[in-house]
Amino acid sequence: MDKVTLVEVGLRDGLQNEKTPLTAQQRAGWFNALVAAGVQRLEAGSFVSPKWVPQMADTDVVMANIQRPAGVTAEVLVPNEKGLEAALKTDAEVFAIFTAASETFNQRNINCSIDESIARFRTVAAKAKADGRRVRGYVSCVVGCPYEGKVSPGQVARVVEALLELGSDEISLGDTIGVARPREIHQLLDAVLPLLPASKLALHCHDTWGQAIANIMAGLQRDIRIFDSAVAGLGGCPYAKGATGNVATEDVLYLLEGEGFSTGIDLAAVARVGEDICQALGRSNPSGAGRALAARHAD
Ligand code: HMG
Ligand code: MG
Repeated sequence: MDKVTLVEVGLRDGLQNEKTPLTAQQRAGWFNALVAAGVQRLEAGSFVSPKWVPQMADTDVVMANIQRPAGVTAEVLVPNEKGLEAALKTDAEVFAIFTAASETFNQRNINCSIDESIARFRTVAAKAKADGRRVRGYVSCVVGCPYEGKVSPGQVARVVEALLELGSDEISLGDTIGVARPREIHQLLDAVLPLLPASKLALHCHDTWGQAIANIMAGLQRDIRIFDSAVAGLGGCPYAKGATGNVATEDVLYLLEGEGFSTGIDLAAVARVGEDICQALGRSNPSGAGRALAARHAD
């Protein structure tokens, strides 16, 4: 069976915008529960400034309290050398560096230009790799920017090239504000796929306009086999006003099962974790598959 890898971003992207304060122990507990459900790649948090994103404080404590059986990787965001220093003290396997195809978004998000961020990440990536970590390069705003509007595939391709040149092992293309539609995903992939094998490319779809599942289907048609998703559709970016959560892991799993892909992940078990998190956050569950499963259990 054709295999698809999901990168669970709910505990990072999902929580970085949440108003309800959560302890590192809660975050680690959900990480462990998702691992028990069969998830193999999970973001544990970010080593960003707690003044900018207080929700990601104590990612070191999360890292110290998670269990990883063989084959499971913990991944963390690293914005600069200060973040690198903290990340290197943990045993996270993957360090994610992150920039954007839009200048204004990058300024708002990490307080520097795209070129400055690439220069900064050159050192971060080199040191991370020298220490045996894998490097994931994120590009945000790959179709639309909350400040600049439409973003061209050519702009994205230039940033992808720069991230590959500094040693990224994988690239994740972020539709940060969830505006993309399948035709735009195809156009984006026309520009990016000539730069790297499909096996090294991930799609990171937010679901603001309800197109994320359709966009993932477009990715599958183009041989993309890595998708980022968040349990219970959690998520948003503090620097992308109005953007809602990532595509729900439960919805992606339901799609993939139907399309005959294997993931090694137990949909019902993930849905239970999603329900727990929604309860702790006092929010409703935006995942259609998650709600359908919860209703079945309530019968
Ligand atoms: P800055 O203010 O330009 O940094 O922030 P600075 O170097 O001028 O330092 C200012 C202060 O911050 C200093 O402290 C530093 O020590 C401290 P002070 O002397 O004032 O007490 N500092 C740090 N503290 C802890 N950890 C650090 C760190 N760096 C500096 N790493 C910075 C630059 C990048 C740090 C800041 O802009 C930041 O933290 N931004 C947060 C960005 C973020 O987390 N965004 C959300 C994640 S990206 C995303 O969601 C998109 C994605 O999901 C894909 C998609 O959907 O598109 C990945
Ligand atoms: Mg995101």
